[in-house]
Amino acid sequence: MIHKSMQKAFTISILYVVLISLISCKQKETLEKANDLKISEGFENPLGFYNAIPTFSWKLPALDNNKSQSAYQIVVASRPDLLPNKADLWNSKKQNSAKSTWVKYQGEKLKSRQKVYWQVKYWNQDKESSFWSDINHFELGLLNNSDWKAKWIGLDTKKEKIIGIQKNILHRPQYLRKNFKISNTIASARLYITAKGVFDVALNGKDVSDDVMPPGYTPYKKRIETITYDVTNLIESGQNTIGVELAAGWHSGRLGWMKKFWLDTETPKILCQLELTMKDGSKEIILSDDSWKATTKGPIRLASIYDGETYDANLEMPSWTTNSFIDKTWEHVNVFPISDDIRLEPKRHTTVKSKIKLTTKQIFEKDGAIIFDLEQNMVGVPLIKVPMKKGQTLKIRFAEMLSPDGTFYTENYRGALSTNYYTAKEDGIIEYMPKFTFHGFRYVELSGFDTSKNPSKNWVTGLVQYSDFEKNGTFMSSHPKLNQLQSNIVWGLRGNFFDIPTDCPQRDERMGWTGDAQVFGPTSMFNADVYKFWASWLQSVRESQFDNGGIPWVVPDVLYNNKVSAGWGDVCTIIPWKIYMRTGDEKVLEENFEMMKAWVSFHESKAKNYISTMGFFADWLQPLPENGDNRGDTSKSLIGTAFFAHSANLTAKTAKALGKTKEFEKYNTLYKTVAKSFEKKFFVNGKVIKVAETQTSYLLALAFGLLSDQHKESAKTHLLRKIAEADNHLRTGFLGTPLLSEVLGATGEIDLMYKLLFNETYPSWFYSINQGATTIWERWNSYSKEEGFNPQKMNSLNHYAYGAIGEWMYERIAGIAPIEAGYKKIRIAPQPRNPLTSASASVQVPFGNVASSWQIKGDKFHLNITIPPNTSAKVLLPADTNKNFLLNGSDFVENTYVKLKYKSKDEFELLVQPGVYKFTSNLNKDQ
Ligand code: BGC
Repeated sequence: MIHKSMQKAFTISILYVVLISLISCKQKETLEKANDLKISEGFENPLGFYNAIPTFSWKLPALDNNKSQSAYQIVVASRPDLLPNKADLWNSKKQNSAKSTWVKYQGEKLKSRQKVYWQVKYWNQDKESSFWSDINHFELGLLNNSDWKAKWIGLDTKKEKIIGIQKNILHRPQYLRKNFKISNTIASARLYITAKGVFDVALNGKDVSDDVMPPGYTPYKKRIETITYDVTNLIESGQNTIGVELAAGWHSGRLGWMKKFWLDTETPKILCQLELTMKDGSKEIILSDDSWKATTKGPIRLASIYDGETYDANLEMPSWTTNSFIDKTWEHVNVFPISDDIRLEPKRHTTVKSKIKLTTKQIFEKDGAIIFDLEQNMVGVPLIKVPMKKGQTLKIRFAEMLSPDGTFYTENYRGALSTNYYTAKEDGIIEYMPKFTFHGFRYVELSGFDTSKNPSKNWVTGLVQYSDFEKNGTFMSSHPKLNQLQSNIVWGLRGNFFDIPTDCPQRDERMGWTGDAQVFGPTSMFNADVYKFWASWLQSVRESQFDNGGIPWVVPDVLYNNKVSAGWGDVCTIIPWKIYMRTGDEKVLEENFEMMKAWVSFHESKAKNYISTMGFFADWLQPLPENGDNRGDTSKSLIGTAFFAHSANLTAKTAKALGKTKEFEKYNTLYKTVAKSFEKKFFVNGKVIKVAETQTSYLLALAFGLLSDQHKESAKTHLLRKIAEADNHLRTGFLGTPLLSEVLGATGEIDLMYKLLFNETYPSWFYSINQGATTIWERWNSYSKEEGFNPQKMNSLNHYAYGAIGEWMYERIAGIAPIEAGYKKIRIAPQPRNPLTSASASVQVPFGNVASSWQIKGDKFHLNITIPPNTSAKVLLPADTNKNFLLNGSDFVENTYVKLKYKSKDEFELLVQPGVYKFTSNLNKDQ
C-alpha cells in the first residue's frame, strides 16, 4: 500500500514538474517586442503633454507567427529603473484582450510636470509572450492656471498709434529680456511659455526651438495653449539671459476681412516660467514679471499675418539675448495678472515647423525686378540670400500665379498686402527669413537689391511650413494626371494645415472655415498623421459653440456675427465620426457627444415641421449656376434639412458606439422623422419636386439615406439623368462634391465615376491640372488658358475643399477601407477601370501598415496586399471566377490564412489573415 501511494505521489510530482515547465515554457518571452508606442492621439514621448489620463497604443511587429494579440500588459512608473517589475504608477496586469490601441491609463493620478515611463508586452494568438517593449515616456505640462506663478508682461504698443490699412492699430513687435543668475549646478530646466501673440525665444544667444509662430491659434478668450521646452543644455552656471521676440500674430493682428473687430486689439504679451531643478534637488524659478525689460526698437518693425514683415537691419541688436548686452535704454514692462477666465493648457497637437525646402527652378526679369519660380504653389516663407548695398530696401512680393503678360497676379490676395521689406545695414549678402508672417505663393519677386550682381536661383529658397505631422499614406497610379491630382491634394493639405485647418493660406482670410474642414477632413486622414491636429481643433469648435448650440462659420470665431450655416456647422458631427471610423478611438466621440447633441437641437430650433430654415452658403461655388449665385442652385432648405437628418444620424451612431441606448433611440427616431419630412417635402417617387433639381439634391438624399427604399433606385436614375444632361460632367459645389464619388461608388456606378474623375474639360479635377495647377483651386475655373483668371477676387489657388476626392482614390481606386471603426476589419476592394492599368496605396492604420497595389497585365490582374497583425481583411478580388487564381505564385488552395468565402461571376471574396500576399487572377473580358 505504502509503496503504491509513494509511486502515485512520485508520478504526480513528475507530472507537476512537466506541467510547470510547460507553463513556464509558454510564459517565456520569445516574440519580438511591440513597436511604435504612442500615447493618446498619436504622441511619441511628448514633453509638456496635455492630458493626465492618456491612452496607450502599440503595434505588433509583422511576423509570420504574429497574427493577433490574445493579451497585453502595460506597466507605468515614475522612474525607468522601476520597469517592468516595480511599476509604481500602474500595472495593468495581464489582460486577456486583443485591444492594442487606445487603452486608457488607470493608475495613480498624474500631476503637472510629472515624468512618466511605460512599456508594454503582448501575447500572440498561441499565447506566446513577447519581450517587453522599449521604455517610452511622457512629461506633463502645466495643467492648471494655478501652476503659473508668472505674470503676463509686455509694452503698451498702442501708445505709438501706428494705424494699419483697415484703420486698425498695429502693434510693433517687441523684444523682451531678462538677465538672471543661478547659484547652483543645474540638473534639469523646463521653460513653460506662451503669448498673446506669437513668439520666438532664445537663451544665452541660442534658439530654444525651431517652432514657427507658437503657441498657435485657439479661441484666445477661452483658451491659450502653452508650450514646454527642455532647456537643460542651454542654461549656464552663473549669469544667464532669456530673450523673447513677440509679435501680434492671430491674437492682436488684423484677421478677418471685417474692420470692426480689429480697430482696438489687446496688446501682445508673453507669459513664461523657467523652472530649474538643481543637482542637489533644490528648485529655482524665473518668471515673467516686472523685472523684465523690453523695447520696440528692434529690427522687426512690423509683422502681420496678412500683410508681411518689415525688417530694418540697422536696428539689429547683436547679442541682445546674451549676458553681455546692456539694456539700459530699454523700458520696464507692464505686468498683468493671469485671469481665471482664460484657461492655460498645454498645446494638444504639434507646432508649425519649416518642413520642406523648395529650390528655385527658374528666374526671369520683369520690369526691373527678378521673379523666382519655385514651380510649386506652397505656403510658408522664403529664405532670402541676396547681395545688397547699405541703405537699400529689398521688396519681396509673392504670387500664386502670373498673369498671361508675366506680371504678378495678386488680386486674389484681396486685402492682404503680403509683402516683406528688408533694409540692409551694410554692403554684402544678406540672409533673411520672415519670422512672424506666412505667405501662399509659387513666385517670389525681388527688387531693391544690388543690381551690379547677376541674379542667381539660389537667392530664394521656399521654406514650406505646416503643423508638424508626418505622412500617413501614399497613392500612386499609372496615370500622370491622377498622380498630379494626388500631389495637388497633398500640397493643399500642407498649405492649409497651419496650426488650424484653413480655407486658404494667402488672402485676407486664412481662417478655420468649418465647411471646408468638414469636406476635406476625411481625405486629410489618409494622407497625413493628423488625428491630434483634428482633435485639437475640435476642442476649439466646442469652445466656440454658441449657447444655443449653433456652430460659428469659422473656428476660432473671429467674425462674432453669431451666424451659422448648414453643411458648415455639421463639421461637429461629421469630423468626430470620420475620425472614429479611421481610428476606432471612442475618446473622440466621448469628447464631442455633447457638442453634437447641442448642434442637433440647434438644427431642430431652425426647423418647422422638420424642414430646415437654416440656410446659408449652400452648395458653395457650384459650377455653372443657373441663378448666377456663388451659393449654387440647390435649395437651401433641402440642404439644411438633409444635414439636419445627417447630423441626427451621426449623433445616433455615436450614442450607439458609446453604449447610450436611450439616446441612440432618440436620435435615430429623429433622423428617421426628418428623413421622412425631407422626402415628403422635396421628392415624389424619387424625383425632386418644387425646388431646383440638381445633382447635389439627389446626392444628399442618397448619401444620407433620406429616401424610402422603394424610391432610391428611381432617385439614382434621376441623378444619372442630371449628370448625363451635364454632358457627363459634375455640377457640384463644396457640399455636393465629396458625395458624388461616395454615392456613385456605393451604387455601383464606378464607370461613371471614373468618367467624371478623368474628364479633362470644365468642370472637372483635371481641368485645373490642364491649366497648370499644382494645388487644388477654390473654383473649378479659377483660371483658364483661354479666359485667364476668374474675374471674382475670391479666387484662391490653394483651397483644399475639392481635394475631398482623395478619400475615394484611397478607398475605391486602391481599395483600402475600414469595415469596422479603426480598421480592425479591413476591406480591400480595388476597382480597376479604364484608363488606369495600375494603382497602389498604403495607409498607416492604428494596427500598422495596410497596402494594396494592383496592376493589369494582359488579361491578368495582379494584386499585392499587406494586412497588419491583429486585424483581418475581406478581400474582393476582381476575376473570372470560372478559373482559379494564384496565391503567391501557386494555384490557390484554401489554407489557414486565406479562405474563400464566396464567389460571384467576376469577384472572389476572401477572408485574409495578417501577412503579405500576392494574388493573380484572370479577368473577364468586360472587366
Ligand atoms: C471661404 C470659403 C468658405 C466660404 C463660406 C469663403 O470666403 O474662403 O472657403 O467656406 O467663404 O462660404
